[in-house]
Amino acid sequence: MTSIEATEILGPMYRNISHDGKLALDELGLAPGAALLDVGTGAGKSAIFLASNGFDVTTGEPETDTTHYANLDWANNAEKMGVRERISFVPFNASQMPFGGASFDAVFFFGVLHHVDEDLRQAVLAESLRVAKNEGAVVFFEPRKETLKKVWTNDPGHPEAVNPADYLLEPKRSVQHIEGRMMDIFIVRK
Ligand SMILES: C[S@@+](CC[C@H](N)C(=O)[O-])C[C@H]1O[C@@H](n2cnc3c(N)ncnc32)[C@H](O)[C@@H]1O
Repeated sequence: MTSIEATEILGPMYRNISHDGKLALDELGLAPGAALLDVGTGAGKSAIFLASNGFDVTTGEPETDTTHYANLDWANNAEKMGVRERISFVPFNASQMPFGGASFDAVFFFGVLHHVDEDLRQAVLAESLRVAKNEGAVVFFEPRKETLKKVWTNDPGHPEAVNPADYLLEPKRSVQHIEGRMMDIFIVRK
């Protein structure tokens, strides 16, 4: 699959998602076939990016989400990109995940935390660290200011970005920040 073909299927932003996703993957150094959780399926772009890099991906979002960010045809996108069999979908709310402790090598939130109800965000961070393996990590991608300005022209109700460090129950845990092309990347190590 060339990047031109991928852009035709997933739109022009996929190039930036791949660029910023790669920055995080380079930092994490995950083993091939690692088990990853992609929270907030949406159109499946982040799940597809991770699966395309050779990882086994579980993705999900709340069944009750009636916003235009959810219940999209991610499976059709994954089929077209040739990675459908590497992605499993499980409906869940990230504040109460249906997974055992230490199930995933890393947990990804690509453009998601700012969509989570503010009163759930502390629980979402605690749950993410619970399901991440020891030595694992939780990675948040939140839109940069310039990105948000563009988003607001088409989607004026889109929420502001948030800093995951504001919702950590253990504030002394270090949070690594990487400036991406489109997103700010925050890596919380378990
Ligand atoms: C903008 S979309 C994410 C885009 C997606 N990562 C992609 O690459 O196409 C925001 C997602 O956050 C999810 N979301 C919002 N609140 C959530 C929660 N409490 N638990 C899990 N997912 C949630 C929504 O259902 C939606 O799937």
